[in-house]
Order: sequence, then C-alpha cells, then structure tokens
Amino acid sequence: MKEYTTLTSEVLTACEQVKEQNNTRSLETGKAPRAYVLTFGCQQNEADSELLCGLCQKMGYEITDDPKEADLILANTCAIREHAEKKALSIIGGFKACKRQNPDLIIGVTGCMAAEAHRREEIKQKYPYVDLVFSPASRHRLPQLILEKRMSGKRVFCPEERDLTMPEGLPVRRKNSYRAWVSIMYGCNNFCSYCIVPYVRGRERSRKASEIVSEVEALVGEGYKDITLLGQNVNSYGKDLETPIDFADLLARLDAIPGDFRLRFMTSHPKDAGKKLIDVMAASSHVARQFHLPLQSGSDKVLKEMNRHYDREKYLATVAYLREKIPDVTLSTDIIVGFPGESDEDFEDTLSILNEVKFDQIFSFLYSPRKGTPAAGREDQVPKDVKAERFDRLLALQNEIGLANNQKLVGKELRILCDGPSKSNPNLLSGRTDGGKIVFFHGDAKKMTGQYVLVTPKRADAYSLYETEQKDG
Ligand code: 5AD
Ligand code: SF4
Repeated sequence: MKEYTTLTSEVLTACEQVKEQNNTRSLETGKAPRAYVLTFGCQQNEADSELLCGLCQKMGYEITDDPKEADLILANTCAIREHAEKKALSIIGGFKACKRQNPDLIIGVTGCMAAEAHRREEIKQKYPYVDLVFSPASRHRLPQLILEKRMSGKRVFCPEERDLTMPEGLPVRRKNSYRAWVSIMYGCNNFCSYCIVPYVRGRERSRKASEIVSEVEALVGEGYKDITLLGQNVNSYGKDLETPIDFADLLARLDAIPGDFRLRFMTSHPKDAGKKLIDVMAASSHVARQFHLPLQSGSDKVLKEMNRHYDREKYLATVAYLREKIPDVTLSTDIIVGFPGESDEDFEDTLSILNEVKFDQIFSFLYSPRKGTPAAGREDQVPKDVKAERFDRLLALQNEIGLANNQKLVGKELRILCDGPSKSNPNLLSGRTDGGKIVFFHGDAKKMTGQYVLVTPKRADAYSLYETEQKDG
C-alpha cells in the first residue's frame, strides 16, 4: 500500500506550484483564475467533485458556475447507463466554444467514463480540445496533471488507474454547510452482470476507521447535521483492512460521537446486509431510520443471472427483520426493468414483491447494456417497447404504494431538516424527515435553513408531504 503522507504532501506541493503559475498569470491578466466543475451521476461523484473543488481552491482557482468565464473546466462523468454518457459527451462537446474564446482554458474529463478504454479513445479522436483525462481513482492527481499539461503543452491521458488508495487530509470544498458526504470506501468487488462500476472504479479499498471517525467528528464540530457515509457496498467495509472492523462496528463507533446529527449510509447490498447491522441501527441514537436496499428484480431467475447472490426469500427475510427492529423505517430500493431474458412472469414477480414490501420509494431504471459487462453480450435483450411498457406499469404501481405510505404520515408531527426555499416553488420551504421523505412547508428561510423544525403535514402525494392545503402554498 502507498504511504498516505507522502502522497498527500506530493499533491499539496503540486497545488502550490500551480498556484504560483496562476498568480503570475493573474498579474498579467488582472483577474483571478476560475474553475468550473460539472458533476453527473451519483453521490460518490458529488463527493469526488467536492474534493476536486477543494484542490482547485488550493491551486488558487475561484469556483464559478459559468463555464464561459472558466480557466479550468472539469467534467466529472457517469457511465452507469448510456443516457448518462451521451449527456456528458454532448455537454463536453459544447465546451469547444469556450476553448475558442479562451485558448489557455484547460478542459479535463474525469469520473467513470474517463476510466473506460473505448471512451478515452473516443475523447482522444473526437474531442481534441479536451486536455486532461483521468479516472476517478486518480482524481487527487489533478494538480500534477495540470503541471504536466502546462509543461509539455500536450494533452495528458493519465493511465487508467483503478485501485489506488486516496491520500488523506486533502482539502474538500463542501457545497452544503449542514449535509455532508463521507466516502468510507472506494470500488466494488461484486461484478453484478449488468454493472460497469467494478470495471471503472476498481476493487474495494476501505479508508481507515480512525480517519473516518476523525472526519465525522470534525464535521459534527463544525455544525453538520446530516452525514451520509458512501460506498458502493458499505457492508464490505473493512474486509481489506489490517485491523479487523466491519461496517456495523464502524457505524457503532460513529454513533458514539456526541452531538445533534444524523448518520445515513448508502449503498447496502442485500446479500450481506445482516442482523448485526440492523441491531446496531436499532440501538443507535444517530443513525437515521432509513434503509436503501437495492432489490433490482423480484424474480429469482433474474437475480441469479444478475449475479446478485440472494433470492426473494432472503431479501424478504431482511426486510422483515428490519421492520421488526425498526418499525417506522423508511425503505427504498433500486429496480432494473428489462434485464436480458426478463419474461412477463419475471416482471410480475417484481410487481408482486413491490406489493409485498410496500417500499416508500423506488428508483427504477431501464436496463442499459454496458460495454464489457456479461449481460451486454446476451442475445435475449428485451425490446425497447416492452421495457417501456413494463416501466410505466412499475411506476403506476409504486405511485399507489408511495401515496398510501405517505398518507399515513399526514397529521403526524415530523422532525424535518430544512433545506431552504423549494426549487419548484420558492414560496415554500422544503426539508427532509429522518427517513429522508421530502416535506414542503411555510417558514422563514433565513432562520430555518440548516435547522431542525417540527412540521405537521396536512396532505401527501406519492413523492412528498405538504403542510399546505394547496400544492402551491
Ligand atoms: N442499466 C440500468 N440500470 C443500472 N444500474 C446499474 N447498472 C445498470 C444498467 N446497466 C442501476 C442499479 C443500481 C443503480 C445505482 O443503477 O439499479 O443499483
Ligand atoms: Fe454495481 Fe453490483 Fe457493485 Fe452495486 S454491487 S456497484 S450494482 S457491481
């Protein structure tokens, strides 16, 4: 394993060197250099971008939300489905105009797409104005890559690194002052047959428990109220560490930190979300009563072909134990519709498990073939129209279930962490319950944002709760 300290100091030294260069340029141009960081995809990418922004600030860049005025543009991409890749490529295409305006502009592409060999080749050939390409595992190398680019004047394709450990103690620029992400591990060893993640993010690497505890303690000390622990499969946490510790132990250690805050985690794999973890949650004072447990399919045949290592029965037993120990737990899941070979009966099995479990929320996705994964090569792909029709049926059913679940909370006083004015209706504030449900209510944004408030909803729909009688308040 690489020495954390050496690497951290190397990164920080490179930051200083870029900063010096940037200062010299600022004196010439009369303005501070600016960085624009665009994030696609999951919470892990959001967390990675916060680190990239932290590094940018350390290098002397101001963070901007306008690519046209940027001297450094970073696209942190996602590869989980084709749609995400197409969207990123189209936006990256638009940066060509920015480069024309500002020939000194450096454009970098990172994230999962930047770790796929065929996309790197595509960027090399078709996007000649992209200067830096680096995988998520190499994100801390950004300052060194900028130096290399400036020194050589050539485009830099950082090797397709996947299994690097992250140096500790690098600067992070958090977007929010009361909700925070904390990565506890990187990579995935599961190789679900539809999924690109293990190929682009490499094998599982856990951060040391002491580093995570210190980070969470510091966040709580700074007043953070809602901390989400991130990993592709948090239940595997610690398996690669010298000091034996598992995720439940880590959670118990974090729960012992004093303060008024909530801990959440994602994502848990049903094959090893065990009783110990649920017992720790039930006994905890800080762990939110929310569980995201991706099911993917309700059909045992499909689950086997997805390489998920659990069946309906095991999944349902976990849900039953969870509800026995934490009766008011909010339960959400991920469902893939139209995995290759999914028959009408298989899909009916998914609908039936939805009826049985009655999830509060589902995240449903049309199966998207990912180059290099086993399922993508199958000849029994489900036709587009069949997938679309199943998707609609799934949503219609979940809308009924979600509505019925939310209606049970109408009239109950709920503790909400307020997120300020709602994006869809600025007359109202929005916030989330302990279980992660969205609630809209009236109040003073200045006083309430980032604070816990008590709200009694009068109305519900399938996705949210409302303190107001009318939708628009
Ligand atoms: N097609 C569609 N959905 C996918 N997911 C992962 N890979 C694919 C794919 N190839 C979904 C899974 C996972 C979520 C993050 O994305 O449901 O849990
Ligand atoms: Fe992908 Fe499966 Fe790993 Fe989740 S557990 S990231 S779905 S391979």
